[in-house]
Amino acid sequence: MKGLFITFEGIDGSGKSTQMDLLADRLAELGVPVLQTREPGGPPIAEAIRHLLLDTANSAMLPRTELLLYCASRAQHTGEWILPALAAGKTVLCDRYFDSTFAYQGAARSLDIQQILILTEFATFNTVPDLTFLLDIPVSDGMARIKKRNLDRLELEHNDFRELVRAEYLNLAKQNPKRFVVLDASLSPAAIHTQIIQTVLTRLGVSSD
Ligand code: ADP
Ligand code: TYD
Repeated sequence: MKGLFITFEGIDGSGKSTQMDLLADRLAELGVPVLQTREPGGPPIAEAIRHLLLDTANSAMLPRTELLLYCASRAQHTGEWILPALAAGKTVLCDRYFDSTFAYQGAARSLDIQQILILTEFATFNTVPDLTFLLDIPVSDGMARIKKRNLDRLELEHNDFRELVRAEYLNLAKQNPKRFVVLDASLSPAAIHTQIIQTVLTRLGVSSD
């Protein structure tokens, strides 16, 4: 049976990595086979593209180059890792997927949505996540959480950029209510995890006992 494809979305510092790790650990305890991965990135070719995208030295990168590189990374990742894992019955947990492109390159960089849609269908082999957790948090709170780490090229953008990203995520969630679960990312990690694990186990038809 085909596995469940779960993605995590939210601005930087919203707690995606924290929640993915908690979920992956719990699913492993329950004996559920999991592939935990991220975008941009995953297999070596996609990780090499990630490096190009996030390198602060690449400040001359044009928005459309950025869009194509995110899509190139996604095509390699989807074809090489995600689709084979789903076909093998694994639950795939992915830190960001195409919703990030609509929020960052679409809403925040103002690239054309119809063109992003066509590129997305191509890059994903028409794959759509079964479930998307949106970790929603005010921009200033997200930034406060990551101010100690070395910021990548996208994280160096101003807060207005992140406000556009956050608003577009909420808009995407509204447009796709069956796929999205919006979570208050200001809550404690444990409280957020409880909501996530309940939703995932219900979808998997697995008992938590
Ligand atoms: P993201 O992957 O979305 O950038 P992280 O999971 O790396 O976010 O979390 C960013 C920082 O915030 C980390 O230092 C992490 O420990 C902390 N953090 C994560 N979730 C919470 C939470 N619910 N409450 C407070 N701090 C959190
Ligand atoms: P990520 O490593 O997830 O950053 P973080 O863990 O801090 O949330 O993602 C790197 C950056 O790439 C992030 O700032 C968002 C951006 N991004 C896009 O702009 N478009 C995309 O399609 C994806 C997948 C990420």
